[in-house]
Amino acid sequence: MSGALFPSGWSLETVRQSHPRRLFDCGERAVNDWLRTKALQHQSKRLSATKVLMNADGGIAGFYTLATGQIDFGDLPPAIARALPRRGLPVAVLAWLGVHTTYQGRNLGTQLLAHALRDCHDAGQTFAFVAVIIDCLNDRARSFYRRWDFEQLPGHPYRLFLDARTLAAMMVPRD
Ligand SMILES: CC(C)(COP(=O)(O)OP(=O)(O)OC[C@H]1O[C@@H](n2cnc3c(N)ncnc32)[C@H](O)[C@@H]1OP(=O)(O)O)[C@@H](O)C(=O)NCCC(=O)NCCS
Repeated sequence: MSGALFPSGWSLETVRQSHPRRLFDCGERAVNDWLRTKALQHQSKRLSATKVLMNADGGIAGFYTLATGQIDFGDLPPAIARALPRRGLPVAVLAWLGVHTTYQGRNLGTQLLAHALRDCHDAGQTFAFVAVIIDCLNDRARSFYRRWDFEQLPGHPYRLFLDARTLAAMMVPRD
């Protein structure tokens, strides 16, 4: 997965009060509600971090939210769990991702995902985690993520993971 190249004049920014969050519409109510009403609050409480992709007109074209979490040793596939201690393990969580309906199907979801994974990888150099976890809203969202290297957690059909080594292998080195 290569690095993100957004259209000229667009920028990825940490969400703030002045961003027009209430106008965002990705077609999924839960995702809209998150950005419109909760993302900023959770960020100010240091529970999660949200980045919005601003188009050249100052509208929100897409966003993603990252958080940290913990996963039980027993929830990981045996091949990965084998080498790990039998306790709760730190994970990065891709909590939300959305692209405005106007811009869907133009590769922005893929680029935002690449950016979110780059953020996870960079943060992981300082605060280690064993995997990136995604809780999928529905089958459509799950099939979007399964196109890349995310795997299903045993017994959790809507919870996907990408182990940290696979994440590192996906990263294109910076110049
Ligand atoms: C899922 C979502 C982020 C994808 O964004 P996007 O910019 O339209 O995606 P892309 O253009 O990068 O699409 C990449 C590929 O995935 C496919 N795809 C796009 N949305 C998809 C979806 N919802 N389900 C399955 N596949 C999807 C595209 O057809 C495309 O395939 P192609 O390369 O063969 O043409 C966007 O549809 C969205 O915001 N959906 C509503 C919110 C949501 O479900 N978020 C995820 C859970 S939090």
